[in-house]
Amino acid sequence: MISPVLVLLVSFLCHSVTAGRTCPKPQEVPFSTVIPLKMSYEVGEQIVYICKPGYVSRGGMRRFTCPLTGMWPINTLKCQPRVCPFAGILENGAVHYTTFEYPNSVNFTCNKGFYLNGSASAKCMDDGRWSHPLPVCSPITCPPPSIPNFATLKLYTSLVENISFYQETAILDCLPHYAMFGNDTIRCTEHGNWTELPECREVRCPFPTRPDNGFVNYPASHALFYKDKATYGCHETYVLDGPEVVECEKFGTWSASPTCKASCKIPVKKATVLYKGEKVNIQDKFKNGILHGEIISFFCKDKERKCSYTEDAQCINGNFEIPNCFKEHSSWAFWKTDAADKQPC
Ligand SMILES: *[C@@H]1O[C@H](CO)[C@@H](O)[C@H](O)[C@H]1NC(C)=O
Ligand SMILES: *[C@@H]1O[C@H](CO)[C@@H](O)[C@H](O)[C@H]1NC(C)=O
Ligand SMILES: *[C@@H]1O[C@H](CO)[C@@H](O)[C@H](O)[C@H]1NC(C)=O
Ligand SMILES: *[C@@H]1O[C@H](CO)[C@@H](O)[C@H](O)[C@H]1NC(C)=O
Ligand SMILES: *[C@@H]1O[C@H](CO)[C@@H](O)[C@H](O)[C@H]1NC(C)=O
Repeated sequence: MISPVLVLLVSFLCHSVTAGRTCPKPQEVPFSTVIPLKMSYEVGEQIVYICKPGYVSRGGMRRFTCPLTGMWPINTLKCQPRVCPFAGILENGAVHYTTFEYPNSVNFTCNKGFYLNGSASAKCMDDGRWSHPLPVCSPITCPPPSIPNFATLKLYTSLVENISFYQETAILDCLPHYAMFGNDTIRCTEHGNWTELPECREVRCPFPTRPDNGFVNYPASHALFYKDKATYGCHETYVLDGPEVVECEKFGTWSASPTCKASCKIPVKKATVLYKGEKVNIQDKFKNGILHGEIISFFCKDKERKCSYTEDAQCINGNFEIPNCFKEHSSWAFWKTDAADKQPC
């Protein structure tokens, strides 16, 4: 029989042995938790380190028992972040990252001409997987362009596959009689659509009016349209002022309105003049006058310096002014020297 007194004594002695021999709060290991976590532990009590979500232990003990010495053993446990699997390469794009470890994110961008199919960023989650599937950079394409009314496709290279890539162009044309407003060249944009389409509008020009002393020819038609042409001419002795052929332009007007200009009579009976760099007799060369626009140089005398110089006169629509310095000889004044024969000044 064991007396109750002995039991009491033994338990007292045991208590004295272990008294003060408790383990302190255990050492902290980064990214881990201790279970249970207390300020002190009895000898024989167990603790376990658990890596926090997103971290895994790499070597080292996880489980400890408070020893009789009251000192926890040295803990070499390391909790390290999980690494999400990824080669780090995005074809036709770029990956922006620091590491592929929990809890970091990576960002994705695509090169010009490619668009991001998928999420622009992904986070490495605590289970070691990405929050979003990795994206791909797909080429930007445009569907065949829609053709504006009264237009045709003049140049379109992707007829076979029916797609165009970023920056590819197509060229539009308007049907006859229609003028283009806008750019004939359209381009596949980064949005996968085409730049603004031009517009084709019907353009009519009024019938040209016949010039005085001349005529105009144009297509025999009930109306005249964009790019139609009219041809002008003048009656004899008249000269066309303007181009012979005019065109109906996109704002419904003709490119020019030529007129017929009259030739000039020359009120001089006899003189030597310069015409196109040559000395000619006015009475022979210009019996029928001169045409509008033509220039004749008259010789004038510089009496003091006893020499001659020239002054120009031009036929302007029937008007011809003889230079003031020019003096016409009477035909019987044969002893006078013609200005044209004098020394040039
Ligand atoms: C990813 O993009 C976010 C938002 O634009 C930015 O705050 C972050 O710094 C970027 N991360 C990297 C690694 O480029
Ligand atoms: C985006 O990518 C997915 C899978 O990678 C593909 O099935 C889908 O057709 C793509 N979407 C576009 C608009 O290209
Ligand atoms: C391209 O489009 C044309 C006209 O819409 C169609 O006839 C042809 O079958 C298409 N080709 C392809 C390869 O889709
Ligand atoms: C028409 O578009 C092309 C290509 O986008 C551009 O190079 C050109 O300058 C444009 N022309 C005009 C007149 O705007
Ligand atoms: C093309 O798409 C972008 C984005 O949706 C839009 O802002 C733009 O106006 C479109 N361009 C044309 C010419 O429709």
